[in-house]
Amino acid sequence: MGKDTILILDFGGQYCHLIARRVRENNVYSEVVPSDISANEIKALGKKTSIKGIILSGGPSSIYDKNAPKMDKAILRLGIPILGICYGHQLLADYVNGNVKRAKNKEYGIAIVNVKSRNMLSNLEDREEVWMSHGDTVLSMPKSFQILAHTNNCPIAAYSNSSLGIYGVQWHPEVVHTKHGNQILSNFIFNICKSHQNWKPTNLIQNYIKSIRDAAGDKKVIIAMSGGIDSSTAAVLAHMAIGKRLIAVFVDNGLMRLNEPRKIREIAKVLGLNLVVVNAKERFLENLRGVTDPERKRKIIGNEFIRVFEEHAKKINADYLLQGTIYPDRIESGYSKNSSVIKTHHNVGGLPKTMKFKGLIEPLKDLYKDEVRKIALQLGLPAELVYRQAFPGPGLAVRVMGSITKDKLEILRKADFIVTSEFEKTGASKGLWEYFAVYTDIKSTGVKGDQRAYGDVIAIRAVQSLEAMTANFAKVPYETLEHISTRITNEIPQVTRVVYDITNKPPSTIEWE
Ligand code: XMP
Repeated sequence: MGKDTILILDFGGQYCHLIARRVRENNVYSEVVPSDISANEIKALGKKTSIKGIILSGGPSSIYDKNAPKMDKAILRLGIPILGICYGHQLLADYVNGNVKRAKNKEYGIAIVNVKSRNMLSNLEDREEVWMSHGDTVLSMPKSFQILAHTNNCPIAAYSNSSLGIYGVQWHPEVVHTKHGNQILSNFIFNICKSHQNWKPTNLIQNYIKSIRDAAGDKKVIIAMSGGIDSSTAAVLAHMAIGKRLIAVFVDNGLMRLNEPRKIREIAKVLGLNLVVVNAKERFLENLRGVTDPERKRKIIGNEFIRVFEEHAKKINADYLLQGTIYPDRIESGYSKNSSVIKTHHNVGGLPKTMKFKGLIEPLKDLYKDEVRKIALQLGLPAELVYRQAFPGPGLAVRVMGSITKDKLEILRKADFIVTSEFEKTGASKGLWEYFAVYTDIKSTGVKGDQRAYGDVIAIRAVQSLEAMTANFAKVPYETLEHISTRITNEIPQVTRVVYDITNKPPSTIEWE
């Protein structure tokens, strides 16, 4: 009766697709569906595939919000085990007449849970490190429910009712910060849902090539090249799919790091791509003049990128635009009905409403960066490119706080070059997701050459992360930071102070804007 499947109902949580990915890593197929799927639709799906379990994702809403996403309650009576995570945990509690308290304070980050009963939590320690990110809290559950765990802030952090097949966890087992997260998910998938490991990832590369070929037909396609691993991987796949009908376009928007345009030319050469470089520095800076709101900056940049691509597409008669968009770009831009807009990634939410392309092709749109890296390695892309630190599409525009000027960009470029080269030289960059400088747009008093100096403050941001959905600030040796600080203040006369950012994500994001 088809492969065993775990359905994930998407309530808009940042980690929704991560749940599906974790299930699939256990060799059980998993698919994300909208939260308003009906019980009948699930029954219909069940005719094609064997639905063994349902997981309700987290989400940004409170169950008390006016437009809080709900679920068809008839799903509870399908006889399929259901696990609620975070928002899902609260929603299920509410549906079975538990008491959910509206949040006064929110809880983010690492918490310790005390495990009282095993059940879904079998093979866990008495005290477990978990990742919490929630507002509302479940205070009580009907007697028929077993309370499995609590934390200091959360009297019912996990519950179960085996006869109803309803389970809930307040924390996020799908993120790596929850030490034994996979144990919890596999307890649910295997012990409770009795799934079989009858799914294996198929040859993804061949699938991507075929899907690009199908989407492009016999037309020409433009790929937006940024020099990063996502667009490079998408470009290589597309090149394999449609050969010379792919034209790579790099838009030099004046917001790149030092030496970046040269590097992108080299990358395109290594990948054997036909590259066109468009110098659009002046028009980008002109459109951004005086703009301080980060979301407006992103929208202006997304819009301008498309306009440049359209102009070029017209010249060469290309119908499609191919982008290296990955899953976190979409989720942060609030693509799913229930998710919150964290920031409008230039290549998703920043796109203009009307575009002169027949269509957009985004072969990597459901992948996280570490999955893209795996594909890139299989494709034989050079390791230096595969492990290149991520760089945001809107470039230095989201690292210059406030309005953007050529002078600020110049200062930031120099500072960023010092930060990146010192991190790489000393090995501090090893294992880091990103390390860069930020122009804070703050002035501060200093003393240079026995004279008062009133200058710029540069921040250093360096983080460790696996998929950019969560991140920890990097614990860089003080000596390295000191050396970088000295170099920046010595070599860039305008800078009087250097600070190090010690915030994790959440609550902050990796980029400052
Ligand atoms: P945040 O700052 O949201 O960033 O924690 C997560 C990852 O995404 C990168 N980033 C972007 N990438 N377009 C992109 O292609 C964007 O608009 C954008 N904004 C952030 C960021 O550098 C980090 O790796």
